Formats: sequence, C-alpha cells, structure tokens
Amino acid sequence: MKHLLGALVLVAVLATATVYFFRSVDLLPVQASAESIVVDDLFDLTLDIIAVLFALIAGLMLYSVVVFRRRSPDDIDGRHIHGNTSIEVLWSVIPLVIVLWLGYHSVGELTAITSAKDNELIVDVTAEQWQWSFTYPEQNITSSTLVLPKDRTALLRITGKDVLHSFWVVEFRLKQDAVPGLVVPLRITPNLVGEYKVRCAEVCGAGHTTMWNDVLVVEEAEFETALADAASGRNLAPDVRGAKIAKDRGCLACHSIDGKKIVGPTWKDLVGRREDLADGTSVTVDAAYIEESIKDPSANIVQGFQDVMPKTFGEQLTDEDIDAIIAYMTTLSPGAGGN
Ligand code: CUA
Repeated sequence: MKHLLGALVLVAVLATATVYFFRSVDLLPVQASAESIVVDDLFDLTLDIIAVLFALIAGLMLYSVVVFRRRSPDDIDGRHIHGNTSIEVLWSVIPLVIVLWLGYHSVGELTAITSAKDNELIVDVTAEQWQWSFTYPEQNITSSTLVLPKDRTALLRITGKDVLHSFWVVEFRLKQDAVPGLVVPLRITPNLVGEYKVRCAEVCGAGHTTMWNDVLVVEEAEFETALADAASGRNLAPDVRGAKIAKDRGCLACHSIDGKKIVGPTWKDLVGRREDLADGTSVTVDAAYIEESIKDPSANIVQGFQDVMPKTFGEQLTDEDIDAIIAYMTTLSPGAGGN
C-alpha cells in the first residue's frame, strides 16, 4: 500500500510537470479564427491525455527501478508472475474507451465547424503553379489577396488548376488540399483583424516555396473597400504594386531578382541590358521589349533560354499591371539607361 501511494504521488507530479511543459511550449501563432479555438482545444485535450499516460508509464517504471532495485548481496531471482487478467482487461478497456470518446468528440466538433452558417461570404479559391487567386462572385472581383471580414463565416470553394496544392493559413488552423477537377468547401470564421499569409502546404514543383499570398482580415464595415483596394492595388506606389504582382502571379518562381539564372532571365539589372536573342540578333531591354515579352513571350527569346513562359499573362494583366511590373524591374536595375 505504501509503495502504491508513493508511486501514485510520483505519477501525479510527473503528469503535472508534463502538462505544464506542453502548455508552456508555444509553437503556434495567434488564434485568428473561431475554428482555431476548437482545433487548439482538441490538441490541448489530447496532449493532456498523452501527458497522463506518459506519467503513468514513466512514473511506475522510475519508481520500480529505484525502489525495487537489486541490493547486494541479494542475488536470488525475482518472483515469476504470469499474467493478471483484471489488470490486462483494465489497461485495454480504459484506453479503448478514451480513444472512442476522443473520436466521437472530434467528429462532433468537426461537424460543427464544417456545417453551413448564416450569411456566408463565398470565395472561389484557385491554386495553380505557383500562386493563389480569390474570386468573389457576389462582388464580381478577383484578387490575389484574400480579404475576409471579421466574425462572418467565409465559404471557400477550393480548386486547383494543375497539380495538388494545399491551402493553409496557420493562424486559422485549417488546411485543405486543392485538387484539380474537384471543388472542396472550407469554412473559416476569422475573429481577429490582421495580416496573415496563405501558404501552399503540398510540394507542387520548383516554385512551391514561393507559393504564398497575403490574407487580410478587416472589420465587416471596411470589407468592400478593402477588397476593392486589394484587388486593384491602387493604394500602392507603382513599383511596390509591381513587386506584389510579380510575387502573386508567380513571376518570381522563374525570374530571380538577385542575378541567379533560373528558368527565365534574371530581373536584376535587366532594364537597359543588352541581350543576345535566339535568332542571332540582339536587343536593348526597354519598356517595349518587356511588354512584348509579357504579352507574347515566344516572339523574341533570349539566347540560352527555352520558350516555356505561359502565354496567358497578356490576358491576365492589364496595361497598368505591366507598367507596374516595369516600374519594379527598373528599381532592380540601378544602372538602367546606362550601357
Ligand atoms: Cu502549391 Cu506547393
């Protein structure tokens, strides 16, 4: 009896210390959605159970190793024990009940956070190599920034154009694969105004690590304006806007800004540079050549590069967008106009 009590005290101390340790390791950023609270509570609950289980096993073991260790000159064998049905039933049934209950509880929570809510904001999310785009059918706007109103559930209808991608905003604690040919719903109720990032959580090719876009949570009253501003980028200086477009549209997956040669020519010192073309002629890179290269990439390929740039940017980008990109490229070419 004395030993059982001693062991249980040790288990209790160990369990408390482990729970405290798990709680104090703060691996996750702020909770920015109603769903994140549910998800984190489930994680905490699971970790508490794990802590108690760990303490039970490690505590009993530790106690036995120290208290029941062999002392010299005692070298007789220990008593042979063969099974104990009641203990075995107990340590099978209790965990089984806990796991079943956890499953039941989690399914309930999952059903609650995935069920339809009132007044949902619909956003069509498209993933492609290597960018996200967000279309708001009611507002008739497409934006590269995901703008969401606080305290209103957004119904994201997520799809992919080419390969598997995965929508992940850590602060929302929700993740959903974007699958070509499927439209998968994901409901998010942001509860904290702020700026976040949507990252791609599925290795999807060379530009995977650059596949992130801005997420903006604003007060409901500011939503329409914030969305229009984000979609047009009109509040940004041209070169800043150009940098954003280049990032959001995936340009930088193929064009470096540090001089490194990747799939396409680097943008560092591009404006004003003399380029040898595949057809043997050469050209000085200016606004007209850049515009042509964006709208009709096959027209004049620079020597040493393949004709692989998507031909769709001419339709996707407005002339204003292209001017913004050129303004950005110019800032990357401090010696522009020289040569
Ligand atoms: Cu898309 Cu990784």
